[in-house]
Amino acid sequence: MNYLSNKLKKIEIKVMKNEMSVTELHPANKGLKGTIKVPGDKSISHRAIMFGAIANGVTIVRNFLQGADCRSTIECFRKLGVKIEESIDEIRIYGTGFDGLIEPVDILDVGNSGTTTRLILGLLAGRPFHTVIIGDESIAKRPMHRVTQPLQEMGAIIQGRNQGNYTPLSIVGGQLKPIQYEMPVASAQVKSALLLAALQIDGETTIIEPVSTRDHTERMIKQFGGKIKLEQHTIKITGKQELHGAKIDVPGDISSAAFFMVAAALINNSEVVLENVGLNPTRIGIIEVLKEMGGDIHIEENCDQTYEPVGNITVKTSNLKGIEIGGDLIPRLIDELPIIALLATQAEGTTIIKNAEELKVKETNRIDTVVKELKTLGADIEATNDGMIIKGKVQLNGGHVHSHGDHRIGMMLGIASLISKDTVHLEGTDAINVSYPTFFEDLHQLLATK
Ligand code: S3P
Repeated sequence: MNYLSNKLKKIEIKVMKNEMSVTELHPANKGLKGTIKVPGDKSISHRAIMFGAIANGVTIVRNFLQGADCRSTIECFRKLGVKIEESIDEIRIYGTGFDGLIEPVDILDVGNSGTTTRLILGLLAGRPFHTVIIGDESIAKRPMHRVTQPLQEMGAIIQGRNQGNYTPLSIVGGQLKPIQYEMPVASAQVKSALLLAALQIDGETTIIEPVSTRDHTERMIKQFGGKIKLEQHTIKITGKQELHGAKIDVPGDISSAAFFMVAAALINNSEVVLENVGLNPTRIGIIEVLKEMGGDIHIEENCDQTYEPVGNITVKTSNLKGIEIGGDLIPRLIDELPIIALLATQAEGTTIIKNAEELKVKETNRIDTVVKELKTLGADIEATNDGMIIKGKVQLNGGHVHSHGDHRIGMMLGIASLISKDTVHLEGTDAINVSYPTFFEDLHQLLATK
């Protein structure tokens, strides 16, 4: 049977009072072949809009990710008075500088986007006006104390449910004071929020990370002409610098490429080339894991790279073995852990994922959702306090699974269906639009190439 019977086949079923879409997915009957360019990096796309807004002059962004999360960022900045023009191949942001941002007359809706919520809080902490932030059901469960507490320490007034931990949140910013902050959790979102606040303060702010996390904000500050001091896990930044509009070519998102890297490794007769993927060292944990598991993976770095390294990744069908994944590696592959869990179900032996408690506070509790859905398909997988234990190799069955409204769970299950014995019915496919609206088209292309 052809995957998706040559086109997306949707069955509408009724679940309780809500209409939920269910996609019927069939096992792959051939290998994945060909070359694709995955969409732009989500983290960098968000930051390009934000820095474009707070810089002076025009910023031009190419290969911007047109996913729901980054669209939320655009809409929030429009409400803050920033002119943003969109054409097919670029976004133009007419920077207002921090001082040109205006008090929004409407609430800011961040949708499903944790990055928008946390980074915008940092930015608004230094703005002398009132803003209300809301998001969807998933955002309402995500902890915000990790940013609101240090921002309050700097001087921002933030209120929200559970003493400022959950949305809806309201913030009145103003004159902030520099702090020295030792971050209790390894989070690029927290670090970036504090950097955006610090850029508005007279004097030097110091941020100390427990472990290195993605450094796109630090790189972008430099790209916009700013200065930042980086030393191991310590970051120092002085505020009131002038940032200038820049040209940003967003590299392909390695977190999106990861789904096809894993699919190619798992399906017989596959060879997939993923072009122009971001290879920032703080993001390439998935490549290291695939290599250590015995994956047939080849990286060709593009030497013309500017502020963010990019290159092509080739993955072929591989024989894999289980490994242990933990420690400093976790922040460098945190978003790839759902698809790595699927990979591990097809590796000989045991894979242990540890030190990954942060998975519990993502778009869903990803320890619970990954374990539940992969178990439904017959995987040998157990949740632990800080990760999962997965035993392979196990032939997956078909079944009825759910994205739980989490884009990465949806895509992981989409790839799982390719290696399952029988049909998989995936409920909540729409969630995938958050980061990869063309996921099924790209998958279809790789399945259709001879
Ligand atoms: C992101 C950082 C990570 C990641 C998220 C995007 C970012 O979250 O999981 O998808 O753009 O800074 P944390 O910073 O909470 O680790």
